[in-house]
Amino acid sequence: MANLLEEQRETWNTRSGFILAAIGSAVGLGNLWKFPYMLYDNGGAAFLIPYIIAMFLVGIPMLILEFSMGHFTQRAAPDAFAHAHKRLEFVGWWGTILGFVIVTFYPVILAYCFSFLLYSVEGIFNGGQLPWAGKGLEGVQQAKDFFYKDYLGHSEGYSLGSLRLEVVLMLTITWAAMYLCIFKGVKLVDKIVRFTVLLPWLMLVVLAVNGLMLPGSIKGLAYYLNPDWSQLAKATTWQYAFGQAFFSLSLAFGVMITYASFLHRKGDINNNAAVIGLADFATSFLAGLAIFATLGAMSYATAAAGNPVSVQEVASGGPGLAFVAFPYALAQLPGSAWWSFIFFFTLVTLGIDSAFSITESVLAGIVDKTGWRRSIVLPIMSFVGLSIGLVYVTRGGLNWLGNVASFIDGTWGIGFVGLLECVVLGWFWRVDWLRKHANSRSEWKLGIWWDYLIRIFIPVILGSLVVWSFYDDLTRQGGFLKNASGNWILPNCVGISIMFFAPVAAILLSFVKSFYQPDRSAQNTQLAKGQNGGVVAFVLSVVSAVMLLILFRLAVLGREMKILLWILLVLAAVSVVLSSYLLQRYNTATTRASWFARWAGMIGTLDLGGFLALCLIYFTKQKQLPKTAASGADELTATAYVILTVIILLIVSGFGWCFYRALSSAKRRDEGMQYPDEE
Ligand code: TRP
Repeated sequence: MANLLEEQRETWNTRSGFILAAIGSAVGLGNLWKFPYMLYDNGGAAFLIPYIIAMFLVGIPMLILEFSMGHFTQRAAPDAFAHAHKRLEFVGWWGTILGFVIVTFYPVILAYCFSFLLYSVEGIFNGGQLPWAGKGLEGVQQAKDFFYKDYLGHSEGYSLGSLRLEVVLMLTITWAAMYLCIFKGVKLVDKIVRFTVLLPWLMLVVLAVNGLMLPGSIKGLAYYLNPDWSQLAKATTWQYAFGQAFFSLSLAFGVMITYASFLHRKGDINNNAAVIGLADFATSFLAGLAIFATLGAMSYATAAAGNPVSVQEVASGGPGLAFVAFPYALAQLPGSAWWSFIFFFTLVTLGIDSAFSITESVLAGIVDKTGWRRSIVLPIMSFVGLSIGLVYVTRGGLNWLGNVASFIDGTWGIGFVGLLECVVLGWFWRVDWLRKHANSRSEWKLGIWWDYLIRIFIPVILGSLVVWSFYDDLTRQGGFLKNASGNWILPNCVGISIMFFAPVAAILLSFVKSFYQPDRSAQNTQLAKGQNGGVVAFVLSVVSAVMLLILFRLAVLGREMKILLWILLVLAAVSVVLSSYLLQRYNTATTRASWFARWAGMIGTLDLGGFLALCLIYFTKQKQLPKTAASGADELTATAYVILTVIILLIVSGFGWCFYRALSSAKRRDEGMQYPDEE
């Protein structure tokens, strides 16, 4: 087992400090603002199926991977990857750079929340008058106009136009607040998250309970919980679900690696990851209940007032949900200024710890690599982040924001980096070391299945999504990069450019000489074994990769070739099985599997992902599904009740189990049994 770095690194004060900070990062605007409208737009409760798969089969195991990576190396993402292999450093930078892109736009949305919070405070003192409040359908229009026209000065299209000074001011305040939260390091963060995690939770519960008690709320829930299964046949449903799960867990962009690098040497990993994942899921689900119950109540109240507005009529705004639909709905109900205050206060406190977690991860990446001082890097970084953010604060800014965000949060950004992370750590490094490291200090243990989850299962799933969305983009009606008349489609071109710029910059950065020199002695002295088998597997995997390319090309042209598909599957499967065997056999303390076997495993796994994607492409080709809003029945169907019960059971039993493990392991420790430390 490789040496642990026993250097002194700053640590969280307490276990709960780490858990809360990680929850603070995970639970953010993604849960309260994005999850409900994603679900609503993509099949209602049917969306929960890919989402739960993404959360529990992919997300939490990857959270454990990131935690153990950060904890093992005690370094932020770039250095952590450099520790695994010097050529892998770029993977860490890639995520960190995309994280930096997030941190240019995420605070902009927070700035909106800040403004709306202030309007609500003003409303409280004004006898309940809110600038977006209106009645009936005109009222909906008024709420839209207030957000888009009066507040944002929004214009359609992609020309930027002038800056909105009010938003600039709020953005500056947001950055200043983020700066103040992290400039002192994690000890202060530890204190802040007690406030910014627990308080919004409390408020969310209050919002949900209030919403559910209002008349008409169940009708609103019908839009949330009635499933439209047909949406599961669409590529985008799965892509959004995975993108959303990754985004919500703050995966792939180095945040969780960084946070775990500050975790005490004896800190638990597996159970913490499960608690954090469950908490994130539960928060999203609760947020959806709160939002849709309130929308239902709004619909009831407007009907009673003789000016009926249905849930669809307000909720169809997608991202406008938090700034148009929900404020409008609250304005129809008693005590609206106070409730708006609570809602936007929740958004601000939820969002700020997510925003500074990304800043912290970029900061730690730079500081760890260069050895420069935090007190110098942070102000510069904040200034740069704020300046770039100004782009989104112009009249056309929101269009750009939505566009850049959809690349980052989708398969192109977060999905791709997540795939890379699993595949390179799984095949090129030693996930078994990470597993043993995590197990040696955790309240429950991972079996060897986890290695295979990271090495094969997750990459196959993510790989298929990547290929599937690539296909989707290439065959998109109206063109992806160029439209039919040969004109460039600017926003997509910019999105793709950022996606290509990130790895290039990452590779360049990884050539910069590091201040940190990892100790890889344990790896370097190992003898390579299993060359012959490795070469065979390698050849098979490459042949099947070529087949994959041919089949993909044919698919884009609208043709299929089933025989080739089956040959591809067999070759890829054989190469993966063979290389898994070689890794299992030769990755020991003194020897390691040959590089051929590892490359073969990696390529073969990606081939399998491609195979799955092609099956899905063939299968869904005939179906041109319209984008439906969640099925419109006004009453909760029986299925919806079943879904509700299952989800609640899942959450309650999940938490119950985690706490039981934590308690029983604490008891064991008290009874004087040795806490399993390094083997
Ligand atoms: N998880 C946060 C949310 O749901 C956003 C976030 C914070 C994030 N850190 C991240 C997303 C890192 C991706 C990567 O709002």
